[in-house]
Amino acid sequence: MPIIYDEALKTFYLETSQTSYVFCVQHAGFLQHLYYGKLISREDISDLLPVLRAAPRYDAEGKAFSLDTMPGNEYSTFGLGDYREIALRITYADGSRNNDFKYDSYEILPEKPKLEGLPSLRDGETLLIRMKDGDCELRLYYTVYEQENAIVRHAELQNFGTEQIEINSVMSAELDLWGEDYDAITLGGRYSYERDIVKTPISQGIFSVDSKQGYSSHKTNPFMAIAQKGATEYTGDVYAVNLVYSGSFKASVESTPCGHHDLKMTRMLIGINDFDFSWKLDPGETFTSPEAVYVYSDCGFTKMSQSFHDLYRNYLINPKHVNKHPIVLNSWEGVYFDFDDEKICGLIDKAAMLGVDTFVLDDGWFGNRNDDRTSLGDWYVNENKLKGGLNVLISRCKKQGINFGIWIEPEMISEESELYRAHPDWVIRAGERIYCRERNQCVLDFANPQVVSYIKKVIGDLLENHDISYVKWDMNRPLTEYFSLVLPKDRQKELMHRYVLGVYELAEYLTTRFPDVFFEGCAGGGGRFDPGVLYYFPQIWASDNTDAGAREKIQYGTSLCYPLSAISGHVSVCPCHMNGRTTPIKSRFDIASLCSTGYELNLSELKEEDFAQFRQNVARYKEISDIIYKGDLYRLKSPFESNYFAEIVVSKDKEKAFGVCGIMKIDGLRPAVSIVKFKGLDKTFLYRIKETGKIYRGDILENVGISVGFYSDFATESFTLERVK
Ligand code: DGJ
Repeated sequence: MPIIYDEALKTFYLETSQTSYVFCVQHAGFLQHLYYGKLISREDISDLLPVLRAAPRYDAEGKAFSLDTMPGNEYSTFGLGDYREIALRITYADGSRNNDFKYDSYEILPEKPKLEGLPSLRDGETLLIRMKDGDCELRLYYTVYEQENAIVRHAELQNFGTEQIEINSVMSAELDLWGEDYDAITLGGRYSYERDIVKTPISQGIFSVDSKQGYSSHKTNPFMAIAQKGATEYTGDVYAVNLVYSGSFKASVESTPCGHHDLKMTRMLIGINDFDFSWKLDPGETFTSPEAVYVYSDCGFTKMSQSFHDLYRNYLINPKHVNKHPIVLNSWEGVYFDFDDEKICGLIDKAAMLGVDTFVLDDGWFGNRNDDRTSLGDWYVNENKLKGGLNVLISRCKKQGINFGIWIEPEMISEESELYRAHPDWVIRAGERIYCRERNQCVLDFANPQVVSYIKKVIGDLLENHDISYVKWDMNRPLTEYFSLVLPKDRQKELMHRYVLGVYELAEYLTTRFPDVFFEGCAGGGGRFDPGVLYYFPQIWASDNTDAGAREKIQYGTSLCYPLSAISGHVSVCPCHMNGRTTPIKSRFDIASLCSTGYELNLSELKEEDFAQFRQNVARYKEISDIIYKGDLYRLKSPFESNYFAEIVVSKDKEKAFGVCGIMKIDGLRPAVSIVKFKGLDKTFLYRIKETGKIYRGDILENVGISVGFYSDFATESFTLERVK
């Protein structure tokens, strides 16, 4: 019974195995947030919160009651004296904007309802709160995941009136906390350096991260944590939120004095970006916000990450694929656009010798595509390049005992394409006015149902007519112009969200119609790495940067809220095509083992002795992959904070573990030595380290640690631990 309502106190308790989330129905029917943190007993805590002097009082009866100083608002609305950033802003038919929603009723649903047209987590007891303002109903949903210590929430707005209303802003979640002694932790970065961990001290004012690009983007991620100052991987309170959405979003945190007092309040909000957003809600219609995931950890970031990882593996990612990630050889960095059937068959033979499960033919196989200037939209095979079509390659794969995968970029169109010649009106742009191209391509208008159904048909046919077991779904440019020919002029600000809904519709269609096909998400590297994509696709290409040093940071940052199984990473050649750096072969193997692994290079150019090492590495990965997919990650040393890094993944039963530690740069004498203290092991178990053959007790590995010497920049060591009985 994770959801409890105390009728006398008019208080709701949402409890997980280790956390409590408490709110009550306040004066006049407002919802007051009372507490979020460690599990507490169910008592009246409302009188512990201060009542303070404020400016606008809500009404004559509630003498001291003001939304400006109500210690915590559960879901703030505009116009009634709460001057912070707010969750909901609506313009009613008469132009008024005082959004006066009051508590109406509640229901506890044994099953979590699926969100209409949006990705959402499965299962879980759900609390539904109904709030009313005139003919408008606001529904707040909270689902509790007891074992994962997570709460998922979203909002729905329904217009029961007879006139259209306009939604100007609708956030998915709000969290009000006392004080401001926090840092905001966000994931920043850029192309080829995604999910850089950024710490920003919170002080009076607003700090926000957002995307206006139509996808979650390389530069930000729909994640924010409010961490007690000084919090580490293993200490301190952390309140984290992650939005299950792949479009333009906003996460903000605001610290402000409470009324006229010096006491501070901190408010975190996350949802669809309200910049250039509005949504007309006709009579009878409902708007559903994406859902947001809350995780609270009382001991730092590693525990926070473990909650996200378990939650996503258990309730978000497709159960059919969550623990089975094919090891691939991808053609991109190996041959780019420069291939023909002979070259590809050669690669397929080599891939089979290497021991991988699937060969993935990346960009360049369709239309007349020999570079990035043409053919997006023409999803039929280029027979000049691939004589005999895809089936020749598929047969070669089958003969070699491996599967065949393919790259697509369904949301895009090249001006030099059959599709463009037939449908220039299917592009997102403002009529004849100048428009931006990026990578020589334009974005298809996925707000247009005709476009979505056309792409459903062509990609559906491609998968229907070929034995394709793996699809890499790429997306190589952000949106611009924000104008759709199918939307009336007063609905143009709906385009960005409608675009995302169109993408989700296509993803839902293809993954449902082809349930055995394994999909990988990608957006010019890791530009769309979010829980919305993970709902459809069990793994996402984390970055085009395959350099081991850069990847360690990218993957470390990504692991803050996404499980290692969801992170796709490949071993490539040196010097790395992205940054020109040469790293040891072992480091490339080790770093690419801390994720769902693959290879991306021209195997035909490998020296024989290197090929043998690659083969051994595939075999090693097969042995440890279960730990990577299902285990608990413990981050031991951060490459963001020191010259060294270390991570270990421990199986749930603590019988096995796989760890990697490494150095960024040698500054002085060789070897540079670091001590690595493991975590997460059973203190009483004896473990054999496969690489050295030595046996140690868990408590020794955790408390004394192991010393490791590094002889070159970006060198790594790996540890495969197995319990000795
Ligand atoms: C960008 C992706 O991130 C790469 O892996 C590759 O698929 C190219 N697109 C192909 O155009």
